[in-house]
Parts: sequence; structure tokens; C-alpha cells
Amino acid sequence: MKTPYWFFVLLLSGGLVCFFPSSPVQANAVKGAALFQNKGCIGCHAVREQGGEVGPHLDGEGTRRTRPWIVQQLTDPKIYKPDGIMPKLILSDQERNDLADYLLTLK
Ligand code: HEC
Repeated sequence: MKTPYWFFVLLLSGGLVCFFPSSPVQANAVKGAALFQNKGCIGCHAVREQGGEVGPHLDGEGTRRTRPWIVQQLTDPKIYKPDGIMPKLILSDQERNDLADYLLTLK
């Protein structure tokens, strides 16, 4: 029996995923909380009545959303709301995960 070429493609990509897992970052809620201030999120978003009113309050974010959802929102806010006004901020994968970790603590 001839093995189809896509079998090798699958095998190879599986191997790559194992060697380079897509989210090796260890997120950290404390760093995320600091980033929330330093990156200006607080200018638009309030948490516990502290912060701006441009964007939605993020209290309860940890019960509404999941980590992948938040990371996606921080990667490109237009994905969920094409006519939204949240800017695309320059963040590293680590910073996005730390911010998600922090936001997920907001119950
Ligand atoms: C200029 C104002 C502004 C800044 C700065 C900003 N946001 Fe937003 N954000 C918004 C607005 C407005 C929305 C609602 C969606 C839209 O209109 O784009 C939003 C939506 C969100 C949501 C989705 C809330 C939900 O559950 O629907 C999250 C999470 C979020 N922002 C996190 C952040 C974080 C973290 C930062 C900082 C790295 C940040 N935002 C910076 C304005 C802002």
C-alpha cells in the first residue's frame, strides 16, 4: 500500500508542535496586574470602580471568558468586533498570557 504524502506532512507537523509548543509561557497574574496599569488598559477599562469608561468594565471577566478568548482579543481586538474601538496594542505572547491570567482572576 502506498502511504499518502499528507501522512508525512501530518507526522512532521505533529513533531514540530511537540518541539515548539504554541504556548510555552507560564502566565503570571501579578505581572498581568502590573501590565494592566503600565500598558494603559486601565485608561479605558475599570476594575472595581477604578479606571476609564471607554471600554467595558472588566469585573467578572474570569467568569465570562476563557484564556484563548482573551489572548485572541489582545492579539487583534477586531476579530470579535470589526467596528470596535479597542486599539491593537503591542504586546508579547508572554504579556498577553500574563494579562489573561490576571483578567481570569476577576470573578
Ligand atoms: C482606547 C481604549 C482601550 C484601551 C487602551 C484598551 N481597551 Fe480593551 N476594550 C476597549 C473597548 C472599547 C472594548 C469593547 C470592544 C471594542 O469596542 O473594541 C474593549 C474590549 C476589551 C476586552 C473584551 C471584554 C469582553 O469580555 O467583552 C478585553 C478583555 C480588553 N478590552 C482588555 C484590554 C486590555 C488587557 C488592555 C491593555 C493591554 C486594553 N483592553 C486596552 C477599549 C480599550
